[in-house]
Amino acid sequence: MAKQEDVFKTIVAHAKEYGFVFQSSEIYDGLSAVYDYGQNGVELKNNIKRYWWEAMTMLHDNIVGIDSAIFMHPTIWKASGHVDAFNDPLIDNRDSKKRYRADVLIEDEIAKIDDKINKEVAKAAKRFGESFDEAMFRQTNPRVKEHQEKRDALHERYSNAMNANDLAELKQIILDCEIADPISGTRNWTDVRQFNLMFKTEMGSTADGAMEVYLRPETAQGIFVNYLNVQKTGRMRLPFGIAQIGKAFRNEIVARQFIFRMREFEQMEMQFFVRPGEELKWFDFWRQTRLKWHKALGLGDQKYRFHDHEKLAHYANAATDIEFEMPFGFKEVEGIHSRTNFDLSQHEKFSGKKIQYFDPELNEGYVPYVIETSIGVDRMFLSVLCSAYEDQKLEGGDSRVVLHFPAALAPVKCCVMPLVKKDGLPEKAREIQHRLRFDFTCQYDEKDSIGKRYRRQDAIGTPYCITVDHQTLEDGTVTLRHRDTMEQQRVAAADLESLLRDSVSLNSLLKKLL
Ligand code: GAP
Repeated sequence: MAKQEDVFKTIVAHAKEYGFVFQSSEIYDGLSAVYDYGQNGVELKNNIKRYWWEAMTMLHDNIVGIDSAIFMHPTIWKASGHVDAFNDPLIDNRDSKKRYRADVLIEDEIAKIDDKINKEVAKAAKRFGESFDEAMFRQTNPRVKEHQEKRDALHERYSNAMNANDLAELKQIILDCEIADPISGTRNWTDVRQFNLMFKTEMGSTADGAMEVYLRPETAQGIFVNYLNVQKTGRMRLPFGIAQIGKAFRNEIVARQFIFRMREFEQMEMQFFVRPGEELKWFDFWRQTRLKWHKALGLGDQKYRFHDHEKLAHYANAATDIEFEMPFGFKEVEGIHSRTNFDLSQHEKFSGKKIQYFDPELNEGYVPYVIETSIGVDRMFLSVLCSAYEDQKLEGGDSRVVLHFPAALAPVKCCVMPLVKKDGLPEKAREIQHRLRFDFTCQYDEKDSIGKRYRRQDAIGTPYCITVDHQTLEDGTVTLRHRDTMEQQRVAAADLESLLRDSVSLNSLLKKLL
């Protein structure tokens, strides 16, 4: 079986070769942790965003959307705590002059121990075959027990240091674990320092006295500062939500795993405003609702898990991540946070404006509490891409690479192909494509053999290929080829819209959510 690392490399290469994701500024040797979406990538990304947007704003009467600016008044970031506390702990190696995140170096060390344990377990599973009792083996095998104890002790020490913001202890852990710089191979480390992740720039000319502004590190604050505008103009009553999709920017130091951790990325965030005291009920509601949204895609229920936060930010009273099983392990794709009234109260304090809701049922005013759902578009894209990819062995020794995208998210829904480039077949195929493109993203392809054309569409995840042959001219039927089963069906060309519509429309996905 191919190693997961190799599988991931193959997926990244495929994403480039088939126009999904390109390195930014590639002809200038690239810009690290910044990516561009190509002709197929942008369609997939737009479909993901539509699925989220419509699930939020169309299926909930009490959720509306906004689109706030990336630039905001710099005091907003003081109020939100980002100026003072949006930091990563950094460490430099004096020999390689490379900079690392201290927490990532330690987490990698923990992952190495996990790998050792997993290798022991895999070896034993192979040796004992069907009679293998994994739980018993983990509890009793001396080597596994030793690794596990070492891992747990390291994890506890690391969590304590992170929770206490103890930078000296983080450095000491790196020294005690004898972690070496992967480039220089030395342990010549500087002290650990905090590094703010926000990008700064200037607004206005210097002669006027330019104002220092930030590129927003999350879209959420654009929602908080518009809370009153939306509540008043939309005559919204609690509980209600405001949704937004937009770019966010973070000067990530350790940027890796392709589009998993980027410096410019996109978020889909929704802030749900509730009556104080009801927030945990709503937290639970959104936890379940969001998981259902993910699972409706059919990528595999076992690929999701919740990771409840043990250590909460001082203003939060509950938080969980929805993690997805990527080729490099279970990773956070979405966060759901009960943020109390922290953000709105901070903006009240820093702006001097009253941000309250008058509750007609209680006959009193208060600052609403907030449940936030925050998902990265790019991470969602990566989870869809990774789970869709298959290098499939076919009968007869043949193989194909196919992307099993949920049909509603596929960049191209169908491709019309004339069997040969003569006898009026191209004209007929064009006629059908021109009709279908009003309803679906529909391509036309007449180049190469029909087999090669099918493979090209499989590689970009097109659910349906429609082949026009001589029989089409006689009886108006075409061959409809299904991507996943490769099954071919003879159908009337006139019925194509109705045959395809249900399977490729977002509606069918959205209906699963109710
Ligand atoms: N408003 C809350 C917030 O921003 P977060 O956990 O920092 O919370 C939310 O980010 C989501 O944004 C994450 O679950 C992830 O999907 C995405 N995200 C965060 N940083 C990212 C990065 N550097 N690259 C890509 N996606 C990122």
